[in-house]
Amino acid sequence: MSESVFRKKSVHKAVADATHGDSKDLVKLLGVRDLTSLGIAAIIGAGIFSTIGRASFNGGPAVSLLFVFTAIACVFTALSYAQFASTVPVSGSAYTYAYVSFGEIFAWIIGWALILEYAVSNMVVAISWSEYFTSMLAGFGIQFPGYLGTDYGSAAAAYETVQAAGRTGISLSTLPGSTVALAQAYEAAPQLGSLKLIADLPAGLITVLITALVYIGIKESRNASNILVVLKLAVIGLVILAGAFFVKPENWSPFAPNGVAGVLSGVASVFFAFIGFDSISTTAEECKNPQRDLPRAMIYCLIICTVLYVLITLILTGMVNYKELGVDDPLAYVFQHVGMDFIAGVISVSAVVAITSALLVYQLGQPRIWMTMSRDGLLWPAFARIHPRYRTPSFATIVTGFLVAIPSLFLDMQFFIDLTSVGTFFAFILVCAGILYLDAKGISKQSKFKVPYINGKYVIGIGLVVALLFTWRSGLFLTGIQDKPLLAFFWLTWATLAVLAFRNNFSLLPVMGVLTNLYLMTELGVSNWMIFIIWLFIGLIIYFSYGYKKSRLAEKEVLT
Ligand code: ALA
Repeated sequence: MSESVFRKKSVHKAVADATHGDSKDLVKLLGVRDLTSLGIAAIIGAGIFSTIGRASFNGGPAVSLLFVFTAIACVFTALSYAQFASTVPVSGSAYTYAYVSFGEIFAWIIGWALILEYAVSNMVVAISWSEYFTSMLAGFGIQFPGYLGTDYGSAAAAYETVQAAGRTGISLSTLPGSTVALAQAYEAAPQLGSLKLIADLPAGLITVLITALVYIGIKESRNASNILVVLKLAVIGLVILAGAFFVKPENWSPFAPNGVAGVLSGVASVFFAFIGFDSISTTAEECKNPQRDLPRAMIYCLIICTVLYVLITLILTGMVNYKELGVDDPLAYVFQHVGMDFIAGVISVSAVVAITSALLVYQLGQPRIWMTMSRDGLLWPAFARIHPRYRTPSFATIVTGFLVAIPSLFLDMQFFIDLTSVGTFFAFILVCAGILYLDAKGISKQSKFKVPYINGKYVIGIGLVVALLFTWRSGLFLTGIQDKPLLAFFWLTWATLAVLAFRNNFSLLPVMGVLTNLYLMTELGVSNWMIFIIWLFIGLIIYFSYGYKKSRLAEKEVLT
């Protein structure tokens, strides 16, 4: 058994499988412009429109540097994704890449973790969409019932806070307006017995609508996405250009008011904002020339978004004091703050549009990963079914719709942000490490795009020694590990990679990808890792009950 779980797919077989069966009917339509646009559609969403606010509130203007650091980690990862996408242009993305490099069980684990990146992150996006949608309606004077625009947990917690404030004689005016509004929604909600009927209806409905669009065709999805992206870039451009006139440089000082810890507390939110550049690799089988276009598109959209993000963070933190930014709609808020209500209104409306396009890309990506897993026998055959008329993975698309719509009706977004980030970091780390495998096995020779090779033989070890000396002398080494025990794992991984790099002349950039992603992952905290481990455990139970026995590679083993 130990060997079977590590059975690997050859690159040749992965590509051949994609051209057989139902999936050969997928329409090959996407070019580099469409892919870049899909990438931007996926990247720019709830992160920059919502979560950046709280990250800036905790970290101050220096969060712009966290965007730069996270972007660097993402560039290493994007290069690795690009090489894989040019070697194995198949819709499974990181799942397929792990199948050819580390073997089946890793492929399954990645496929399972990608549900966090696609379906679970889309729950966040849907909930964020709903927030902007209801506030947009309010801007037009339409009050959407509060209990139909939030989740039970948030409303009940706000109600408790307000009750506690009442008991201790604290004035309600000292509580955030959003808490009071949620508590009112809780009170106003109809009851079934003792159960308050509270659900985030817009989040569920938009998911159903977008799933229907994704169901009826890749062409319709692409056209919708291209239009939405233009609007999205226009609104981001508006914020940057109009906002520049209101920047007061004194707001940038102090630059990091809560120190490094304050900045790093925003890792999950900032990383969340970058997630998505990799998602275009799931459309590999619908690209005209995936080996040429996917690598280019990934790098283009990452560069464009990084520049926009850093500029936006500087503008936001320059327009108002960072302490003002603890809100869910920071882009609109800063303009209200400087008395530009019209621009604030335009931004609210455009945010609804912008976030819709992010939803679309993840609803598009998730079924295609499942389709690939099903083709390999690791999931039930229905997941690979292609609709005879629309030529999309029909059953998998419908399941994705339900999977995202139902939790987004009832659950709170914060929990999902961390969970998405931890799962995505994990996938990114394995993709970067996979390049080292391709190099070691000589498979990189088949890659049409290669991660630029810089010999890491000495650099990785020297880097480790310098980092250890620096952190030791400044007292950060021990205190760091005491505060965050997961850092010990990071140092250990670096040491192991230094030895392996010395022996095998590892390529530097993928190793940097592993280390930067792992470092950022350690910032997410033990509880997130624990939930992630439980998630993986559930996944393994499913694998051993179904995929392990039904895998197409297992059939081959039986035949030989
Ligand atoms: N990057 C995507 C967003 O911010 C997940 O919505």
